[in-house]
Amino acid sequence: MIQKTREKFIALFGKEPLIVVSPGRINLIGEHTDYNDGFVLPAAIDKKIVYAVALNDTRQCNAHAVFTNETVSFSLEDVKPTPGWINYLMGVVDQLQRGGYEVKGFDCVINGDIPVGAGMSSSAAVEGGLVAALDHIFHYGMDRMQMALLGQRAEHTFPGVKCGIMDQFANLHGKKDQVMRLDCRSLDFEYFPFNFPEYKIVLCNSMVHHSLASSEYNVRRQQCEEGVKAIQAMHPEVKSLRDATMQQLDEVRDQLSAKIYDRCAYVISEIQRVQDATELLKKGDLQQFGQLMYATHEGLSKQYEVSCPELDFLVTLAKERPEVAGARVMGGGFGGCTINLVKQEEVASYQSYIQSRYKEEFGITPDVYVTTIEDGVTVN
Ligand code: GLA
Repeated sequence: MIQKTREKFIALFGKEPLIVVSPGRINLIGEHTDYNDGFVLPAAIDKKIVYAVALNDTRQCNAHAVFTNETVSFSLEDVKPTPGWINYLMGVVDQLQRGGYEVKGFDCVINGDIPVGAGMSSSAAVEGGLVAALDHIFHYGMDRMQMALLGQRAEHTFPGVKCGIMDQFANLHGKKDQVMRLDCRSLDFEYFPFNFPEYKIVLCNSMVHHSLASSEYNVRRQQCEEGVKAIQAMHPEVKSLRDATMQQLDEVRDQLSAKIYDRCAYVISEIQRVQDATELLKKGDLQQFGQLMYATHEGLSKQYEVSCPELDFLVTLAKERPEVAGARVMGGGFGGCTINLVKQEEVASYQSYIQSRYKEEFGITPDVYVTTIEDGVTVN
């Protein structure tokens, strides 16, 4: 794909480009915890966006997307939210300009194999890849965390999703065969080897794209803030759900709607689960780790309500299979993939089992991806 992207760039723009590879991500556990100052356990994967980029000595940016076979141009004097994939690029350029980083005209070709809307964070990959490319070309000297934070702001302001930092962080900090535990409050992180050669990370795509995903995501965030406000009135030291205990939440239960209570209860338990899961991972206990993944799914489905019948069905199928250590919906939810830890020698039979049962139930064949953990954004 790198070679094809480069060739396309040369054919369109007639010069040699810089190549940047920007991966998607998985998250083993810790969902909807990042914007609550909690912990997450993500890793970058082998699905990626590839950029070919070079300066063009104008005030114009020209971007060609291989996946839509379309070229879109915009002026550096007129960067504003715009429908379509170009919005993600313009969001990054806008944040750079606002941050005082000088941007000059550039040409780029963008290619990739991260399925859109599948929960692997293609948007963070588009953002992180472009920030890293422009940082290299213009010598901004940004570090990876600055790039991640800039990508997150771009996501907030242009597509308008008030996301946490997990996706942009994972995209830019990934390391081959390592998962990362990020403290989303301090932004401290540690790498852990994901050293289970007998298991594979398998993503099963429900093929559901929920059109409400981004608006409902922002609603979840507000609901968490509402819960924090109520707890804060009694416990001023509680700044986010990271600081709250179940006992404190119970103290304000009668002031909260059942929905808000459930949302907060899920987040408080999930933040603890990531801590417990990390210990299990360090001990090499993938079976217990998998049980926590199922508990996360239960919470995401019943308390946080970001699952759907298709995703629940995929997890129910996983639970019936002894070769699966654990499974759950991954990412923001409302569609997209489940993440499954599957015994290596059973991956092929698991895949065909899932595909045929899902087809019987919903009439479509789900895509299944066997992923590997790879490096974060690389600039060549
Ligand atoms: C999306 C967001 C992340 C995170 C997850 C849920 O992927 O971009 O910041 O909140 O959902 O864990």
